[in-house]
Amino acid sequence: MKSDLGISPQIEDYVSRLGTREHPALKRCREETQANHPGRYMQIGEDQGAFMALTAKLIGAKRYLEVGTFTGYSALAVALALPADGKVVCLDISKDYTDLARGYWKEAGVESKIDLRIGPALDSIDKILAAKEAPFDFVFIDADKPSNPDYFQWAMKLTHPGSVIVIDNVIRKGAVADAASTDESVVGTRRMFELIAAEKRVTFSALQTLRSKGHDGFAVGLVVAGQ
Ligand code: DHB
Ligand code: MG
Repeated sequence: MKSDLGISPQIEDYVSRLGTREHPALKRCREETQANHPGRYMQIGEDQGAFMALTAKLIGAKRYLEVGTFTGYSALAVALALPADGKVVCLDISKDYTDLARGYWKEAGVESKIDLRIGPALDSIDKILAAKEAPFDFVFIDADKPSNPDYFQWAMKLTHPGSVIVIDNVIRKGAVADAASTDESVVGTRRMFELIAAEKRVTFSALQTLRSKGHDGFAVGLVVAGQ
């Protein structure tokens, strides 16, 4: 059945498969999460996973950080795209979600590339900065949306010129254009866009996505100058 946006699961599947060679562990992660998990709406699509893998390869990323891992699809898509000495750092608040993720990472044989840190992301980010860990080439922000302004500002501190920052769910069925919205996720996303617009060290574009689950999108930025 087509959504009111004219998108059917068949179109979505067709377009996804055109550009995607999904690893069997990724396929299982997607299918099991979509079939069984109450948080299934939080999982990125197959096409977006392919975009993440493509981005990692385009920039030759070795170090990837994600804020919000859920059942592990985006981390796995990128881990599979990184070179053998690549490293993925995952921040998530939920042991339950990420216990599922670990199973898929193990199945794909990439668990040794992935360093999962459970806890509030801003605490984990403080620790990364305090330990002076190497900067990240690629950062994906896909966690609690009211904190997006903070996550974006921290991402600027955790990256270097040439790094890419992707932020998920920035269109929110178009609600992001509503200046009167009191929805905390919309308010956070709008504040994040104001920060991005004022941030001269980054070049950004927001891309809209139409999926059978609705209208959303993600922002992609390239860090163009140092701190
Ligand atoms: C929401 C969060 C997500 O990460 C997502 O992909 C879709 C929706 C949300 O919190 O509304
Ligand atoms: Mg998301």
